[in-house]
Amino acid sequence: MKPMDIGVVGLAVMGQSLVLNIESRGYSVVVYNRTTKRTEAFIDSRTAGKRITAAYSLEEFVQSLDKPRRVFMMVRAGDPTDALIERLLPLLEPGDVLMDGGNAHYENTDRRCRVAEGHGVLYLGIGVSGGEIGALLGPAIMAGGSEEAYGIVGSILESIAAVGPQGSCCAYFGPHSAGHYVKMVHNGIEYAIMQALCEAYDLMHRGLGMVADEIADVFAAWNEAELESYLVEITERILRQNDPDSDGPLVEMILDTAAQKGTGKWSSQSALDLGAPSPSIAAAVFARIISSMKADRVRAEPLLSGPCPKLAMDRADAVDMLFSAVLCTAISAYSQGFRQLRSASKERNYGLDLAEVARVWMAGCIIRARLLVPMTKAFQRQSDLSMLLLAEPFRSLWEEHQTQFRRLVARAHEAGIPVPAMSSALDFVDAYRTSRLPANLLQAQRDFFGAHTYQRIDQDGTFHTEWEQVR
Ligand code: 6PG
Repeated sequence: MKPMDIGVVGLAVMGQSLVLNIESRGYSVVVYNRTTKRTEAFIDSRTAGKRITAAYSLEEFVQSLDKPRRVFMMVRAGDPTDALIERLLPLLEPGDVLMDGGNAHYENTDRRCRVAEGHGVLYLGIGVSGGEIGALLGPAIMAGGSEEAYGIVGSILESIAAVGPQGSCCAYFGPHSAGHYVKMVHNGIEYAIMQALCEAYDLMHRGLGMVADEIADVFAAWNEAELESYLVEITERILRQNDPDSDGPLVEMILDTAAQKGTGKWSSQSALDLGAPSPSIAAAVFARIISSMKADRVRAEPLLSGPCPKLAMDRADAVDMLFSAVLCTAISAYSQGFRQLRSASKERNYGLDLAEVARVWMAGCIIRARLLVPMTKAFQRQSDLSMLLLAEPFRSLWEEHQTQFRRLVARAHEAGIPVPAMSSALDFVDAYRTSRLPANLLQAQRDFFGAHTYQRIDQDGTFHTEWEQVR
């Protein structure tokens, strides 16, 4: 049989979709899955007339590939990826390309790059965003690792990616874990925006007494304006979904405890390690954690008093304010994310091109949004832009919407409705734009109890004060 162009290991939903996508671009694909049953089911149900064949051992899989072999791993991140790599490496030859399309932790990708290199195998850590439909019709693809490997597989990856206003939403971002790091921060921003949309829903639902369909109408209108994005679009569609069992909106029947697979948490952990301020991403992670403490929250509700969760204001005015709040929160969250990428690139020598990152996020991925078009242009105009918010049109948007944003956050706090993504986004901008923060007092406190010293605004050097007489 003619050797196959590419092999995919792992036939869960993302793997299957990716296989079909790759084949649809004119490549032959060999697939392998740990459980034979899943392979058979996939071959029987989805591959008729397609250049897709199955292998039932990894040896057979590797042997059926054209050289240099191109192997795409679409298995669960973590131990299953390591176990697979351990089995694959002895079967591969120097110059073959091994790709990991899972949501791997960037430190694992660094390590795996080194292990593969030891075998002469060219390794790529690839962030794939867009969910099942994206993987099938065109995801955003964030590659990192061996540049030589990208030279071999880049054309395949670029052919299967979504097409945005500036071309294929696939790029090589830099060495070792650059691609997975970019994908992780993508997910961090995803967390922050999803949380902001949930807060907007809560304020409309509990705060203004609006029903799901009315809230969906608001999201639909936002999707026609600056907030046009995939996440706003799906939120509208979710709110319109009826539940046949209760004959009401399905969203109201879903248990309010959020799950997470870890990418948002990793993004925050890395931000802390880097000293990069990404508070809205962290706030969104903590919001999910608090939501998961359902039993605690149920116990606490009658015990801890608070105001009536109503926004005593005109509905249309409140909805206008909400638009400003979500828009500013999104801009703040993207700004934080890009700033984190900038810090990580410096610290980890990724050499990231932030204009390319924004360009790749324009289509296919979960955080694709109209806002990414001016973001891309802002970084194309100024590659060393230190803070997205400072560039146009974001500075003007901020100016136009900040008053409404502040009012909304204040009203939410008055009503006792939590808005962690929004308020952290506002605090971030307020701190960033304040030339003198109260950290002078903080330094004094540190010096008081720990002789940690401080610097002065009027003299060079390091100072310590004997704040009290030792008794
Ligand atoms: C994407 C998504 C995808 C996945 C998240 C969900 O870009 O396609 O981000 O990677 O849906 O991993 O993450 P949580 O389970 O942590 O919400």
